[in-house]
Amino acid sequence: MKEALEKIRQAAANELARCADIKELDQLRVKFLGKKGELTAILKAMGSLSAEERPKMGQLANEVRGAIEESLSEKLASLKEAKLERQLRSERLDVTMPGRLPEMGKPHPLTLVMDEIKEIFLGMGFSVVSGPEVETDHYNFEMLNIPKEHPARDTQDTFYINENVILRTQTSPVQIRTMEKQSPPIRVISPGRVYRSDAIDATHSPLFHQIEGLVVDKGVTMADLKGTLEIFVKRLYGEDAVVRFRPHHFPFTEPSAEVDVMCFSCHGEGCRLCKGEGWIEILGCGMVHPKVLQNCGIDPEEYSGFAFGMGLERVVMRRFNIDDLRLFFENDLRFLDQF
Ligand code: DAH
Repeated sequence: MKEALEKIRQAAANELARCADIKELDQLRVKFLGKKGELTAILKAMGSLSAEERPKMGQLANEVRGAIEESLSEKLASLKEAKLERQLRSERLDVTMPGRLPEMGKPHPLTLVMDEIKEIFLGMGFSVVSGPEVETDHYNFEMLNIPKEHPARDTQDTFYINENVILRTQTSPVQIRTMEKQSPPIRVISPGRVYRSDAIDATHSPLFHQIEGLVVDKGVTMADLKGTLEIFVKRLYGEDAVVRFRPHHFPFTEPSAEVDVMCFSCHGEGCRLCKGEGWIEILGCGMVHPKVLQNCGIDPEEYSGFAFGMGLERVVMRRFNIDDLRLFFENDLRFLDQF
């Protein structure tokens, strides 16, 4: 029995020395000291010893138990300490480390230039109004002097909700909505999205942006139109920008014109940017057609006005030398980060 006890003491010492985690340590406690443990088994056998030997063995057994208990608690303390040490090391916070900056968003190039254009017109006393993108045929065409079967509709095919409800092809219907609601003097711009059923390529998109302008008052003339748009172009492109008015036709203005800016790249010589023209078209404009004023209940004998409309994408492409319109709508951060 003595040897058995010594063996247990030795085995416990060996296994404890090798033990490396708290759970395993608990298993060792059960193995050596538990109710079904090795030491208990020996104590149970004590009854078969002689009266002389029993106290000696009892004492030895207690000694072994005490020794094992002590090593167990020593080991437990050291394992706990090691665990804490590891935790402290892995969770250490270096407060002197530089922080990580959160990524900041920024305005889309279209928004950037749109805001600039709004600022220019606000500075000239215009206010900003808006209208619906889902529009009726009535406002988008009829009221603008573009009846069904008018050839101007050919270039403005769009998406139809039904025969009378469409996605607007231009911001010009906002002119009508404004004149119906407001009596002159009127001085507004109306930026927004417009739609046409064009296939997507480097210069076309079924969705793009326009900015509409409308001025109605007593005694408004073509001179006001020219002056306003010349100032606008110079504010946008710089004082040395050269502007040209070229006769054109729009059903809702009479007379009508298109405005060109002299090509910045070749100064009128003709190059790749201006497609050999020397000039770049930036907007359409004209004196509001008397019939359109009448449609909105404004007396063309008393009032006159001018209107203009420009495409935003083209202006932005020219400003930043962007050669593919699709880049605006792909949301690629490598592109958007450059502005
Ligand atoms: N709405 C025309 C277009 O989409 C642009 C335009 C031309 C607007 C002349 C006007 C204007 O207000 O007077 O092509």
